[in-house]
Amino acid sequence: MVFYKNSYFVNKNEVNYGLITEFLIINTTPKKLFFIAAFFLVAYGKVYASSEMTARGEYIVRVAGCNDCHTPGYAEKGGNIPTNQWLIGAPVGYKGPWGVTYPANLRLLIPNLTEDQWVNFAKNLQARPPMPWFTLRMISEPDLRAVYQFIKSLGSAGVQSPNFVPPGGEIITKYIDFVPVSAQHWSGFSHLSPK
Ligand code: HEC
Repeated sequence: MVFYKNSYFVNKNEVNYGLITEFLIINTTPKKLFFIAAFFLVAYGKVYASSEMTARGEYIVRVAGCNDCHTPGYAEKGGNIPTNQWLIGAPVGYKGPWGVTYPANLRLLIPNLTEDQWVNFAKNLQARPPMPWFTLRMISEPDLRAVYQFIKSLGSAGVQSPNFVPPGGEIITKYIDFVPVSAQHWSGFSHLSPK
């Protein structure tokens, strides 16, 4: 501004240019301030909204019981496991007529999916027992998105869980026998074809 003011007297063009610049700067300052303030408000709003979303995701993961199986030691410690150790899957299998299944590492699964892919995956999942896939499918889309944001915010961690072992296959890990001792009332799982 000072530069242009000094040049008022140099030549006509520069005087005009200087005046226009000065005019613009002075007149747009309140507007600029407004936009700067608006920008920060929107940015703050976004950060606030996303932290609200991850908090909601954490809440859903907690009350939907995902940690019971997908977080090692969760039940044993009465749920007292820091979130950064959540959902890393388990090396101990669940053995039943379906074979042996291992709770997946969701911390490695989620970063490989987009949010939309996750919603689609969760809404169509039909996994083996004891995964309550039917409950996962019932979680609303906004809540699934919150779950995605929460798990993603935790970052990748842990290793892939062991592969599913089909019935009669060789089991090299520890496992929990997951069949009723008296199987009188056993009628299988409707979504699994009888062996
Ligand atoms: C009772 C134990 C149990 C609970 C509770 C549980 N899961 Fe699972 N979950 C498993 C097991 C076991 C598997 C592996 C199933 C298989 O091999 O077909 C699995 C698989 C999955 C898969 C599929 C992973 C893949 O790559 O195919 C997803 C996703 C998943 N669980 C998410 C969740 C979420 C989210 C929750 C909470 C709403 C939850 N699980 C609750 C035991 C559980």
